Amino acid sequence: KDSGVAGEGPQPRKLQSASVIGAGIMGSGIAAANLKRGLSVKLNDANPEALQLGSTAVLDEVSYDKETRSKSAERAIQFAGRLHTTTNSDELLDTDIIIEAVVENLELKRKIFANLEEKLPETTLLASNTSTLPITKLAENLKHPERFVGIHFFNPVRMMKLVEVIRGEKTSDETAATAVAYAKGLGKFPIVVNDGPGFLVNRLLFPYMNEATQLLQDGVDMKRIDKVARKFGMPMGPIALYDMVGIDTSFYAGRTMYDAFPERTLVSPILPALIKRDMLGKKKGVGFFNYQNKKGKPEV
Ligand code: 3HC
Repeated sequence: KDSGVAGEGPQPRKLQSASVIGAGIMGSGIAAANLKRGLSVKLNDANPEALQLGSTAVLDEVSYDKETRSKSAERAIQFAGRLHTTTNSDELLDTDIIIEAVVENLELKRKIFANLEEKLPETTLLASNTSTLPITKLAENLKHPERFVGIHFFNPVRMMKLVEVIRGEKTSDETAATAVAYAKGLGKFPIVVNDGPGFLVNRLLFPYMNEATQLLQDGVDMKRIDKVARKFGMPMGPIALYDMVGIDTSFYAGRTMYDAFPERTLVSPILPALIKRDMLGKKKGVGFFNYQNKKGKPEV
């Protein structure tokens, strides 16, 4: 679908402040992207430890100067004034947009939106960064589904230009137009896509990632799989990509795809086995590969 919601259609609203719920890899990346483009940001996580880790990640990222390719505390301090961290979601109610980026769990996400809606002004944009869960389904119990939209960023947020803007059945034109303008303002390349499990990118990506685990099961060496994918032109191989996205996140998103398309989705016991051992990928220092070396690159 063409993203041409500008022009004659409803005018997008300008957003000046954003809240992000969930301070994991995606939440902290989204928070940093907003800070870099001048918005004030509230980062929220119910877990204080996760919030602390997330805010450190945000400040670490904004402290990086692309020109000099170095980080500085002064730079981090400049941005820190616009970053507010909180474990209390009531403190998010006065921002122009709230983006949810918690774990891929339909009930948890719905609960978060229901709690917010009790007190949230009707005009505040509500968005989900869900990887795979249909926006219409997430919006089912909302009082104001017209202001709800999917805004799906990719990992690493600082590098990935693409953003999927997903309209639920009841998302208004104004909300979609505002989401598109907002993503453009962050320096991203938004595309408006149809709603449905995995939207566009993960419909394509998950079969590819799944097939890589099937190759592993067939006994093919994981370094070899990644090497071949890179030679084919992928920026990184599928096994390293699992580690970067997170084994847990990949598993939960994969489950949605399985539920939607069981007849053509491959299921591998490898991801649950890694999760059981807390080998969740790069964020834990180990997943398929080991990242406990100094550079944080896979030991291959
Ligand atoms: N903050 C900001 N910038 C930084 C930084 C920091 N802390 N550290 C480094 N940088 C800059 C570097 O200066 C460099 O800039 P330059 O290109 O202008 O010189 C740039 O960031 C790149 O740094 P890297 O060396 O880390 O980048 P690589 O060239 O190794 O590329 C990659 C890494 C972008 C991850 C690339 O391998 C890639 O594109 N991989 C595929 C990613 C992908 O497919 N993502 C989608 C995942 S699926 C998903 O997210 C969906 C979900 O729903 C599951």
